[in-house]
This record gives sequence, structure tokens and C-alpha cells, in this order.
Amino acid sequence: MRVKEEPAFAEMVERLSAKSRHDHYNPYTRFTWPDRMDDGSWWMSPEHLTVHGTGLVGDERVLRELARRETVNFFSLHVHGIRELMIEVSRRIHTPRFAAYSEYLHHFVGEENAHMWFFAEFCNRYAGGIYPDVSTPYQREVFEEEWEDVVVFARILIFEEIFDYYNSRMGRDRRLPEILQELHSVHHHDESRHVAFGKQFLRHLYAHAVELHGQGRTAEIEDYVKAYMAYSVRSLYNPHAYRDAGVARPLEVRREAMAHPAREEIHRRVMARIDRFFVSAGIFGTPWGGEGVAV
Ligand SMILES: [Fe+2]
Ligand SMILES: [Fe+2]
Repeated sequence: MRVKEEPAFAEMVERLSAKSRHDHYNPYTRFTWPDRMDDGSWWMSPEHLTVHGTGLVGDERVLRELARRETVNFFSLHVHGIRELMIEVSRRIHTPRFAAYSEYLHHFVGEENAHMWFFAEFCNRYAGGIYPDVSTPYQREVFEEEWEDVVVFARILIFEEIFDYYNSRMGRDRRLPEILQELHSVHHHDESRHVAFGKQFLRHLYAHAVELHGQGRTAEIEDYVKAYMAYSVRSLYNPHAYRDAGVARPLEVRREAMAHPAREEIHRRVMARIDRFFVSAGIFGTPWGGEGVAV
């Protein structure tokens, strides 16, 4: 693969690996877990709740409970989502196409393993566990392996960008319990390296796939990645979280919230940076712009 022949990219990978070694921490001793979490504080900034801006839930007691359940949903999404993507990365590590990046990919897998542990640990300690994985695999044709590489790393980037949007904000929100601020900010710190790598790597993987297979698949890839963006945003709206928080008519509220114009604006904002990236990298001919979330 030509990626390894590009000195600027090789240098960046080496620099990020060095930074991972330097910033390495033991996740099992890194945090001081409080005995209890029952002081009534917001677990999620109220403006980041999925009903925010819709007026669909007015009772503050329910909103505070929803902040708890949506925190559990958010962390559960990381556990299930990154597990599937780690499997894909692990499948590739030390294969000829990825041999040049194996050291960095080991850091990636190690760090994501730590994230899976601490997000699940929070839910297990304070909230009765994580939500089960309800995702239905997106049915599609299997592409050539170089296009599959593009799809896997595009999915990782989308996932990481959603988390980073919320982590970077909630890591600084002093209304949240200290342990939650810390989980968000530690994750944000690790993810800044992953996103830096992911964007450059995806450009190279895309160029490599086009070089090998031509432009024939590019429209399909664009459609697939956009559908995945919509699917990822939709996964923030968990009907079980609504029900467990005591939201009346949870399924209807979920449907109405997802389609609300105030939420459409937020969906675009959450995905704005990655949407711009896909356009500037030539992976999108037109921006995603928020389509397809409400179904
Ligand atoms: Fe992560
Ligand atoms: Fe990551």
C-alpha cells in the first residue's frame, strides 16, 4: 500500500504512537469511583438530552432521570459500537495491508479496550448495567476489501466524532458529578489522537481503493456512509431510556423528538465537523446535512 511510502503520514503515525506511549495510563487505577451517586445532580448536561429544545418533556424530575438513562445509553453505545469496530481493526492488524500501522493500531485497540471497560464499569456500579445491543446490522452488499477498509474506518471516525462532540462539552460541565466529568474528559483526550489518525488514514485508504478499483463504487460508498451517520445519530434516541426515565408515551415521544426541527439543527451541529471532512476529502460530493435520521 502506498500509505507507508508517504513520509509525512508515516511521521504522524510515529508521533501519535509516541504520544500514546507517553499518555498511557492504567484504566483500572486511574479513577476514584465514589461509593454512591445519589446526590440528585444532573448526569448529563440538560441541553444535551435528546428531548432538549422540543418541549416534549416538561417535568424536571423526569428530565433528571432521563439524564441518567441517556448517560447509560451513551456509554452503552460506546461499549457495543466500539466492540464491533475493534473486531474489524483486530482482523486487519498484522496483515500485509496494515503491517506498517500495527504499532499504532495496538495503541488504538488497547485504548478502546480501556474505554469499553470504564464506560461499562460506571453503568455497572451506579445504574444496574448497560443497555443491551439493539443495533440491527445494516444490510448491504459486501464491497472489495479495500472499500471495506474505507467503510470500517469511516464508521470509526463517525462514532468518534459523535463521542467527541459530547465528551468535550460534558468534560467541562461542573454541574455533573466529578467522576462523569473525568470519564468524559479522559475519553476526549484519547480520542483526539484517534481522530487525528483516522482522518489522515481514511484519506489514504480512499485514495488506495480508487487507485485499485476506480470510481465505480464512490456513489455507493457516499450513500452508505451517510446512512451510517443517520443511523448513529438515531441510536442516541433509545426508547428504553425514555421508558426507564418515566417518559409518558415513550415511542411516540422518541419519534416526535427525532423529527423535531430543533433536533435536526442539533444533528447537523453534532456531525458538522465530520461532514465537512468527508466533503473536503472528496468522499462526499454533497454534505450529509442531517437527512435520514427520523424514520
Ligand atoms: Fe473510545
Ligand atoms: Fe477512539
